[in-house]
Amino acid sequence: MEFATVFCLIISLFISVPCLLKFLTSAGRRRLPLPPGSMGWPYIGETFQLYSQNPNVFFASKVKKYGSILKTHILGCPCVMISSPEAAKHVLVTRAHLFKPTFPASKERMLGTQAIFFHQGDYHAKLRRMVLRAFMPESIKNIVSDIESIAVGSLESWEGQLVNTFQEMKTYAFNVALLSVLGKDGVLYREELKSCYYILEKGYNSMPINLPGTLFHKSMKARKELAQILGKIISVRREMKNNHTDLLGSFMGDKEGLTDEQIADNVIGVIFAARDTTASVLTWIVKYLAENPSVLQLVAEEQDAIRKEKCGVEKVLTWADTKNMPITSRVIQETLRVASILSFTFREAVEDVEFEGYLIPKGWKVLPLFRNIHHSPDNFPEPEKFDPSRFEVSPKPNTFLPFGNGTHSCPGNELAKLEILVLLHHLTTKYRWSMVGPHSGIQYGPFALPQNGLPIRLSLKK
Ligand code: HEM
Ligand SMILES: *[C@@H]1O[C@H](CO)[C@@H](O)[C@H](O)[C@H]1NC(C)=O
Ligand SMILES: *[C@@H]1O[C@H](CO)[C@@H](O)[C@H](O)[C@H]1NC(C)=O
Repeated sequence: MEFATVFCLIISLFISVPCLLKFLTSAGRRRLPLPPGSMGWPYIGETFQLYSQNPNVFFASKVKKYGSILKTHILGCPCVMISSPEAAKHVLVTRAHLFKPTFPASKERMLGTQAIFFHQGDYHAKLRRMVLRAFMPESIKNIVSDIESIAVGSLESWEGQLVNTFQEMKTYAFNVALLSVLGKDGVLYREELKSCYYILEKGYNSMPINLPGTLFHKSMKARKELAQILGKIISVRREMKNNHTDLLGSFMGDKEGLTDEQIADNVIGVIFAARDTTASVLTWIVKYLAENPSVLQLVAEEQDAIRKEKCGVEKVLTWADTKNMPITSRVIQETLRVASILSFTFREAVEDVEFEGYLIPKGWKVLPLFRNIHHSPDNFPEPEKFDPSRFEVSPKPNTFLPFGNGTHSCPGNELAKLEILVLLHHLTTKYRWSMVGPHSGIQYGPFALPQNGLPIRLSLKK
C-alpha cells in the first residue's frame, strides 16, 4: 500500500473530536512536565511528517532526537512514544491497569465490539482464559498432523508455479486458524468464510464511511454474514450436545456463559488476528532464507535430520519434533526481530500518570515502539544484520516483544510458531525457490511486508 493511502486511512480512523477535547482539557492540570518532543501543527500535528517518509525512519529520528520517552501529535491525537524496555514493561505489564487498549471506533465495529482486544478487567480475563485454554500447548499438540496436511497441500499447489508468497501464506494461515477455531466445522464452510474475510479485510483498511457501495459498507455486510454462518455452526453444536476442544468449544463451555453475539465477535476477531500476522512473518522468513544461503543450509540440515529419523512407519511430525528445531526456531525469532511486523501498539492513559518524572495526561495515547526496541544497538548489536545465532543467548526481559507482554500479549503465539515450523519443515526439505522481480522494497499496510508480497518460483529439489 502507498503511504498516501495509509495516510488517509489512518487519519480517517484517528482524527476525532474527543481526542482534541481531551488534549485541550488536560492542559490545565499539569504539574509535572510533559515528555520532550514536538507537537507540530494544531490538530494535524506531525502526521504529515510521519507519512511523508518511511514511518520507521520517522520514529527512529524522533527517538534519536528526544530519547526513549517523547511526545508527539499524530493521527489526530496527542501521544507519548516509548522505546525503552523498562518503559514497555511499565505500560504493558506492571502498570497495565493504567493503560487501556484503544482502537478506532470503526475497527471495533467491524471486528465486533465485544472482541477480546477492546476490553480490560473481568470480561477480558474471562475471554483470555478461554482463548488460552484452546491455544495452550496441551490443546494444539493434538492438531499437529492436521496442520501438517494443510502445509503439505499448500506447498504441493505452489510447485512449479510463480506464486505470491504473502497471498499463499494468507490462505495457509487462514486454513490453520479455521482448524484451530472451528475444527472440522471450519472445513464445511471454508470457502464461504474465506470470501467473507476477503471483503471484511478490504473494508477494514478503507475509509470508514458506511454508505451503500463503499468498501466499509460491504465489509459490514460480510461481517453480518460471518456471524450468521457462526450462528448455524453454534446451533448445530448445541443440538448435538458436542463438546469440542477447539476455540469455539472453549467459548461454548457452559459455565462461562457467553452470548452468541459475544462468541461471534471473538471468533471473527481471533481469526482476523491470526491470519495476516502469521502470513507476513512467513513471507519475511522465505525472503531472509533466500537471501542468506548459509542460514538456509543450516535449517535444511536440521529439518533433513528430523525427516531421516522418520523413515519407517509414522512419517508425520509430532509436537516433540517441533520442540526439537533450535536452528529453525532462531530463524523465526530473528525474523520477528528484524521485520518487527507489529511496529508498535496503542494504549490510552485512563488517568493522569506520572512516568519517569513526566506527566502522561489522561486520554493521551501511549505507543510502545516494538520496532525501535528491537532495532536498538543497546539491545541487539548490529541491529540491521540478520543473524539468527544472536538468539543462542536469550534476550533480556522486555527487549524482545514480537508477541507483546502482559495482560494483552498474544495468546496465539504457540500456535503461530507451530504452524511456521511445520511449513518450514516441508519447504526446506523438499523445495527450492527463487524470488522473482524486485524484492528490496517494503510496503507498509497494517503490517510491514516485502515489496509486492514477494513473488517466488518454487520447484522440487532434485
Ligand atoms: C507470528 C504471528 C503473530 C504475531 C507477531 C502476533 C502478535 C501479537 C501481539 C504483539 C499482540 C499484542 C498486542 C498488544 O499488546 O496491543 C497480539 C495479541 C493477540 N493475538 Fe497475536 N500474533 C500472532 C499470531 C496470532 C495467532 C495465530 C492468533 C490466534 C490463533 C493470535 C491471536 C491474538 C489475540 C486474540 C490477541 C489479543 C489478546 C488480548 O487482547 O488479550 N495472534 N498478537
Ligand atoms: C465431553 O463431555 C463428556 C460428558 O460430559 C466428558 O466426560 C468429556 O470429558 C468431555 N470431553 C471434552 C473434550 O471436554
Ligand atoms: C514480560 O515482563 C516480565 C516482567 O517484567 C518479564 O519478566 C518478562 O521477561 C517479559 N517478557 C518478555 C518476553 O520479555
